[in-house]
Amino acid sequence: MTPQPHFDLSSFNTFGLTAHADWGLIFDSIERLRAVLADTRWSSLPRLVLGGGSNVLFTDDFAGLVLINRLQGIEINELSDGWQLQVAAGESWPGLVEETLRRGIPGLENMALIPGTVGAAPVQNIGAYGVELCQFCTHVDALEVKSGTLVRIPAAECGFGYRESHFKQTWRQTHIIVGVGLFLPKQWHAQVAYGPLRSLGDAPSALQIFDEVCRLRREKLPQPELLGNAGSFFKNPTVAVMVADKLAALYPAMPQFPQHEGGVKLAAGWLIDQAGLKGMTVGRAAVHQQQALVLVNLGGARAGDLVQLACEVRNRVLAQFDVDLEPEVRFIGKQGDTTLEEAMRCVI
Ligand code: FAD
Ligand code: EPU
Repeated sequence: MTPQPHFDLSSFNTFGLTAHADWGLIFDSIERLRAVLADTRWSSLPRLVLGGGSNVLFTDDFAGLVLINRLQGIEINELSDGWQLQVAAGESWPGLVEETLRRGIPGLENMALIPGTVGAAPVQNIGAYGVELCQFCTHVDALEVKSGTLVRIPAAECGFGYRESHFKQTWRQTHIIVGVGLFLPKQWHAQVAYGPLRSLGDAPSALQIFDEVCRLRREKLPQPELLGNAGSFFKNPTVAVMVADKLAALYPAMPQFPQHEGGVKLAAGWLIDQAGLKGMTVGRAAVHQQQALVLVNLGGARAGDLVQLACEVRNRVLAQFDVDLEPEVRFIGKQGDTTLEEAMRCVI
């Protein structure tokens, strides 16, 4: 298979937006990926690697090569104190969570139903219900684009933070993730400190947590097949303690989460909700009624509708609370990664 021209991206982004790439290739072997990267017909074009497209917003057609990762394979090694997993980057993340639990291996249950691929999981260090990927990740295997060599990067060197890693920043264009290593210890503890899970009591099983997380997510988050979306549109902002104290005096009901590393995390969904923006629409884009942090495609939305809505939400929250929201979703323009501000200039 060689890259296909005028590649349709509509089924490779969960917003369900219409967009095309000049070229696109679905790859299921590292050799194939290497060969395409070394081929002068494509090597100098802008390049974008995608898994499930569940965290991207195409603001334009993409004038380059899209590489859709479908590398498959899960290896599980039982050790005396846990299980070491080696997972190919194109495997489904929610599929992996179910597979481990089916085999009696607990640990990933809080991160059930997060859409997308295992290879994208380290990019923003996915997390949910009080647990993050970095708690289990031992290493990431990546292809260095320039040299074509495979490198194994220990988790400690990946720059993991809240919805952050080096793969999202400095390594964005230089590394393609092909595999992820995870260690799931046999000494398992239920992680139920996150508000809505406390109702499970002190000693739920991993399967009970899995079921409850699935139930909560189905209740709050729209299914992309029914209502296009990319999960939380913005990150939860962290502010200085002094700022948080001032806000708490003005809004006593505001949820606040003090961070070990300093500062206080606020709930962006609460801020958007309190600004009265639930249900607000621009064209066919809307702020979701059940979860204000999620922007949805009501059907037939243009990228410009979502971009303008996102700007409006950000501006209104800034005006009311003096808190600036940073997008979590990756904006992809004609040449690759872009910003909300730049996207706004292009769509107007
Ligand atoms: P894509 O959207 O295809 O790509 C995302 C980014 O990663 C892009 O910049 C892409 O270039 C890069 N990338 C992808 N694969 C690779 C690779 N192999 N090598 C290098 N770079 C790569 N996220 C959470 O953290 N927690 C949640 O609870 C959560 N809930 C969600 C709920 C819904 C309904 C939706 C739609 C999304 C949710 N998300 C959540 C966001 C999303 O699921 C994650 O960001 C996920 O990891 C994206 O996977 P993907 O394969 O779809 O990545
Ligand atoms: N809230 C409101 N109104 C809303 C939405 C939320 O008042 O419309 C309040 C809730 O009542 C709660 C607080 O805001 O007090 C936090 O809400 P929730 O527990 O639903 O979590 P979130 O902050 O909105 C985060 C992640 C999700 C993750 C959930 C569960 C971010 C940006 N989002 O959402 O991740 O699934 O917690 O852990 O960190 C994603 O990243 O795409 C994503 C969906």
